[in-house]
Amino acid sequence: MSQQKAGQTVLVWDIPTRMFHWLLVVCFVMAWLSYEDNRYLDVHTFAGYTFFGLLLFRVVWGVFGTHYARFKEFAYGWSDVFGYIKGLFGEDMRHYIGHNPAGAWAIFSLIGFGLVLTVSGLFVLGGEEQHGPLAGIITFRQSTPFREAHEFAAYTLLLLVVIHFVGVITESLFHRENLIGAMFRGTKQADTESTSVRPHRLIAATLFTVVVAYVIAAFGGYLTETQENPYLPFKGKELPMSDTWNEACGECHLAFHPTLLPARSWELMLEQQEDHFDDDLFLEDDTIDELLIYAKANSADLEQTEAAWRMNSNIPANETPLRISEVSYWKRKHEEIDDEIWKRNEIKSKANCGACHLDAKQGTFEDADMRIPGEAPEFDAIEWLKSVLGGDEK
Ligand code: HEC
Ligand code: HEC
Repeated sequence: MSQQKAGQTVLVWDIPTRMFHWLLVVCFVMAWLSYEDNRYLDVHTFAGYTFFGLLLFRVVWGVFGTHYARFKEFAYGWSDVFGYIKGLFGEDMRHYIGHNPAGAWAIFSLIGFGLVLTVSGLFVLGGEEQHGPLAGIITFRQSTPFREAHEFAAYTLLLLVVIHFVGVITESLFHRENLIGAMFRGTKQADTESTSVRPHRLIAATLFTVVVAYVIAAFGGYLTETQENPYLPFKGKELPMSDTWNEACGECHLAFHPTLLPARSWELMLEQQEDHFDDDLFLEDDTIDELLIYAKANSADLEQTEAAWRMNSNIPANETPLRISEVSYWKRKHEEIDDEIWKRNEIKSKANCGACHLDAKQGTFEDADMRIPGEAPEFDAIEWLKSVLGGDEK
């Protein structure tokens, strides 16, 4: 049995360490729940940035923090780890007040992979979305390996979390000590020589305030948005606009931004303008020239936006599609939308991009700037946060 369990309650985990721990758990769950559907990219990036910030805090705290939180207090070698695991099954079962050697390795790996995960996430955000600090530095194409690294790190971290959790349960059972409770309360039973660490309330309050301020900055817009003035969490880069184009092409449907199809498509479409999907556009020659110049200067081949890049890379070089809605990438992105939704009064046609994409006119098609009409409330960040924090009710 553990030798040191003489009755004394000491504070082992200061408040900032515990707050870091549980906020990290919340961000981790949030990031997993929001990664798949592009609509929630703002939630995903919020979770990612917070996760990153928390890890940086923990690294600093690992150097300047309280006794048990310091890295050097639990920098064990492999032999300590093996000794510890062997000890669990033998006579010589040691009890550690801070992290045990196996737990210490789990924590260093969690922090390390957490940093790989968030940094690779910044690269994906910069490359694929052209957002964040690396926007404009990485191209769409360069982001592919970072996406792979990001996914790999995410699954590795998930595995580490499971190992960490199994380890906590194992140690709790072997030592008859509730370690999960200790991560909430901060206290443990220890020998008489051990002393409590300082709780560091001021630093904890500061950390908490920063996170709350970030929540408000990131999601406050959803609370104040109106029908006419919807909140756009992501603002895309400003694309060139043309009045001629918007007038000539915006009469019957949305004036699709030229970034959605390659130059050869626009050329063919304007060549056949007298038979435009059974309509005649009655365009003058010099208008056509002007439209062509604008379309070619902003076509999908130039990959000014993520949508342009993805559309263009999904169109075989020998094809000249006239319909955006028939490009394989477009079809793939919209195949999960039910027929019932397409038939809704607010939508009616697949070409009515603006019904769902709030930034369709601007041509940016940012992931998080999309809502499906008639599905109110489409996404209520506050409700969602509450449901995540309050446990899973689903
Ligand atoms: C007189 C009305 C009219 C005008 C003006 C017009 N279009 Fe169209 N356009 C249509 C119709 C009708 C369709 C077919 C819509 C459908 O099937 O849902 C269409 C479809 C399209 C599509 C395919 C949409 C899809 O399904 O992906 C593109 C692209 C397009 N138009 C581009 C243009 C451009 C560029 C201009 C300006 C040069 C223009 N249109 C002007 C009537 C018009
Ligand atoms: C019924 C609503 C609806 C309409 C109408 C609609 N979309 Fe979408 N679109 C979606 C949804 C939902 C997604 C997100 C799918 C996902 O990735 O989960 C999406 C995703 C996209 C994406 C990918 C965004 C990204 O960066 O990953 C592009 C580009 C896009 N739509 C373009 C268009 C264009 C162009 C039109 C009009 C021709 C259009 N959409 C019409 C609902 C719609």
